[in-house]
Amino acid sequence: MCGIVGCILNNDKAAPVLLECVKKLEYRGYDSVGIATPDSEIHIKKDKGMIDEVDAKVGLSDLPGDMGIAHVRWATHGIPTKTNSHPHTDCSGDIAVVHNGIIENYKELKDSLQSEGHIFKSDTDTEVIPHLIEKYMTTGLDLEESVKEALNLIHGSYAIAAISRNEPGKIVGARKESPLIVGKGENEYFLASDAPAILNHTNNIIYLEDGEMVILNKSGVTVKNMLGEIIEKEVHVITWTPDMAEKSGYDHFMIKEIHEQPEAVKNTLMEAEDIEEIVSQIGDVDKICFVACGTSYHASLIGKYLFESLIGLPTDVILASEFKYSAKAMDEKTLVIIISQSGETADTLKALRMVKEQSKTLAIVNVLGSTATREAEYVLYTRAGPEIGVAATKTYVSQLTCIYMLVAYISKRMDLIDELQNVPQQMTSLLENEGHIKKIAQKYKYASDFFFIGRGFSYPTALEGALKLKEITYIHGEGYAAGELKHGPLALIDDGVPVVAVVPPGETHDKTLSNVEEVRARGGHVIGVGSQEDGDLKSEVEDLIGLDPEINEIISPITYIVPLQLLSYYISVEKGIDPDKPKNLAKCVTVE
Ligand code: F6R
Repeated sequence: MCGIVGCILNNDKAAPVLLECVKKLEYRGYDSVGIATPDSEIHIKKDKGMIDEVDAKVGLSDLPGDMGIAHVRWATHGIPTKTNSHPHTDCSGDIAVVHNGIIENYKELKDSLQSEGHIFKSDTDTEVIPHLIEKYMTTGLDLEESVKEALNLIHGSYAIAAISRNEPGKIVGARKESPLIVGKGENEYFLASDAPAILNHTNNIIYLEDGEMVILNKSGVTVKNMLGEIIEKEVHVITWTPDMAEKSGYDHFMIKEIHEQPEAVKNTLMEAEDIEEIVSQIGDVDKICFVACGTSYHASLIGKYLFESLIGLPTDVILASEFKYSAKAMDEKTLVIIISQSGETADTLKALRMVKEQSKTLAIVNVLGSTATREAEYVLYTRAGPEIGVAATKTYVSQLTCIYMLVAYISKRMDLIDELQNVPQQMTSLLENEGHIKKIAQKYKYASDFFFIGRGFSYPTALEGALKLKEITYIHGEGYAAGELKHGPLALIDDGVPVVAVVPPGETHDKTLSNVEEVRARGGHVIGVGSQEDGDLKSEVEDLIGLDPEINEIISPITYIVPLQLLSYYISVEKGIDPDKPKNLAKCVTVE
């Protein structure tokens, strides 16, 4: 959802560093890119398109100076064009601003600025910011004061970085409801939407809170509140390493991250102590409510099956964007579990803020220090490392691992923990045979519709498989509870329609096989995902993706999603799509 970077270096050229950093944020948007550096004037290079395309066209690193700001865009106001690309400037071109967020009252601000004579060039909401800063700077205020005055007028969300020709050597940043971190290197200072962007330069991070401003210059970093008072901030040393944000020889981040899943599960399993501690602190609850979006919502659905079937604790799962209709149903005996990879999803944060005064809140999050981790009462980290591919993979299996551990410690089902210990090896065995899945992908790459079916614990797996397919192959995919097919969707099964049936050994196995037969009777081509020793399944399906027979139904979601991720990944590659950057999507959705 747009990424911003700023840096002040110790006499090194800033533009190549800004380019390198902003490339790490490309997962946040890839509609356009731009860099601005100040000296006797503000130099800007920007255009629509992916970073590499724009760089090849305009030479983004060919800008003077040892400081500057940069932006990758996920368009909200104004279609992707060069003019709508950031950085945006004031009338004189002396002030440049990059912005992530949405300015809700931009129309009235724009009208008023236009009536005062300001000339706008773009269709964006962002452009009001440099013009407002210009308005205040022409009254004699400095950049910092002018940014503060401008932000006082703005309604909406923002993380911004602003520079001025009149104050070279200074970057002013601020945040409200969009992420912004500060990096303190050796005599060099950074601003960024996310830590992986600057890991090559420093891992000393300051997390800014809403309503805080930061002033970067050659002598250091000062954080202030909107009253201009200095705030002492803790510097966190984060353990993520630069290579975690590199492809390391893989063709795409997505396939690298799929292969990192055994490690991600192993690392998350090491959170056992924190989980035990949180379980002991939470105390009595009589209801669980998961709140999440997208893939994190699917992980939450597995949570419902676990809490209800193993503990008998009533559990709701609510899409964060729909939560406001249910907020009143939460009380002090409800544990609201927020699941979010980024910890910055606007819908999820809004739900958390609605309920945190009235209920116990636990956030299960991957990104260290993200907003959700600072606002929830309890926090559990998934230890997946940075996830760069837009489609969530390793963070999903880590979320599931966390949820299984939570349920195991609450219900004292230590057998579940024992089973979780086997998951990394079971995944590794599957990943060693991915060539088979690649062949299946080649066979079905021309399909226009796919169905994914499963019962019980396999139903959310079917939903997540369908979401992965839609996101990165642009093929229509629907996930259904297998028993629900006959209530409507069966009408869509025709000759050759591919149906992925998730059929682990266990209670639901035989019933799901009956559904597979119903599909076959209508000409559907079934790709079965089940035990490699399941002769019954094998005889019913066109293609079988076989997994370790020891994986039982309850624990199956963690491993059974892997072949579905691989299927989508290889179809995407076969179709010539970049799975890391699917169209219209961004990894971190900071708008509602
Ligand atoms: C799908 C995907 C999205 C996210 C959703 C929530 O592959 O990545 O559906 O799961 O946008 O994001 P987080 O988990 O960061 O709150």
